[in-house]
Amino acid sequence: MRAKIIGTGSCLPQKAVTNDDLSTLMETSDEWIKSRTGISARHLVSSETETTLSMAVNAGKSALADAGLLPEDIELIIVATVSSDFITPSTACMVQKELGAVHAAAFDMNAACSGFLFALNTADAYFQAGIYQNALIIGVETLSKIVDWKDRSTCVLFGDGAGAAVLRADSEGIIASLQGSNGAGGHVLMCKNRSSNNPFVATDTRLDYLYMDGQEVFKFAVKKETECIQELLAQTGLAPSDITWYLLHQANQRIINSIARKLKLPLDKFPSNVDHCGNTSAASIPILLDEVHRANTLSEGDLILLSGFGAGLTWGAALLRW
Ligand code: COA
Repeated sequence: MRAKIIGTGSCLPQKAVTNDDLSTLMETSDEWIKSRTGISARHLVSSETETTLSMAVNAGKSALADAGLLPEDIELIIVATVSSDFITPSTACMVQKELGAVHAAAFDMNAACSGFLFALNTADAYFQAGIYQNALIIGVETLSKIVDWKDRSTCVLFGDGAGAAVLRADSEGIIASLQGSNGAGGHVLMCKNRSSNNPFVATDTRLDYLYMDGQEVFKFAVKKETECIQELLAQTGLAPSDITWYLLHQANQRIINSIARKLKLPLDKFPSNVDHCGNTSAASIPILLDEVHRANTLSEGDLILLSGFGAGLTWGAALLRW
């Protein structure tokens, strides 16, 4: 049995912040951001009631309603995030409580922007082992609280939000998947944001924010994500043109354009929402999936390839039948 997506949901914070809004806070411009990234606006949390947890819960509720399942039906909850509200309990356990998913085992995972794919692949592995029959997986981030608002080359790229999918063990669903990591490259995108309270350690209690070497990440993203897609296609014997839709991590429209060019495919196979969401890290793929699902873009039987990359470094892909 493999994982089949039977419902999707998403939640974006109320406040949309345009490039022009940002140019009132820092020296930047709509022209600079738009031409280098394709981003016009992003949603950012703007009140104490909008949190990683609240967005995860809203996205989860909406995915459950779409799937026609009740919270108490759910056996497994995995939340992919690097921006949980608490160190412990996990966001997944807090989501379980808020939803009343009393029968679920729940845990978080951190694979940065590849997190949703790692969660999908993990749930799929549980299904293949016969351990669970369904799962709720959520990618959620409030990166606005960890980006460096004094670093205009990174803070303009990211947005907040949550996306969710309900999975069922089925004879049809995920066809093939892969994931990988290269810890040795981790220094190009990192956030050392932990202080220590240990009295025996002379501690630097400074909190650091997200650091990124943009050009190195750009090169890694185009190379690794293209290779990852090609490897997955080779596993299945499919040609790039056999895939109906490519739903890629929404980091930068230029990265998506480069990958489409390398695969010699038209851009209309690559739906995108980076224009109005920015990079929402672990939430980006499930938010996009929910958008295209609710816009009736997907038809039963479509072949969908999800792929992403992120800090760690990490990357992953999954091919599935809708
Ligand atoms: N507004 C205006 N100018 C800015 C700016 C901003 N928001 N941010 C940086 N600049 C300036 C820099 O200071 C630099 O100026 P200098 O040349 O005088 O030193 C210049 O713009 C750099 O521009 P450029 O070389 O054209 O940048 P770039 O083409 O490398 O684009 C990124 C920068 C960040 C958009 C690009 O590298 C990128 O998208 N990388 C991938 C990031 C990513 O996807 N991260 C997420 C991974 S999950």
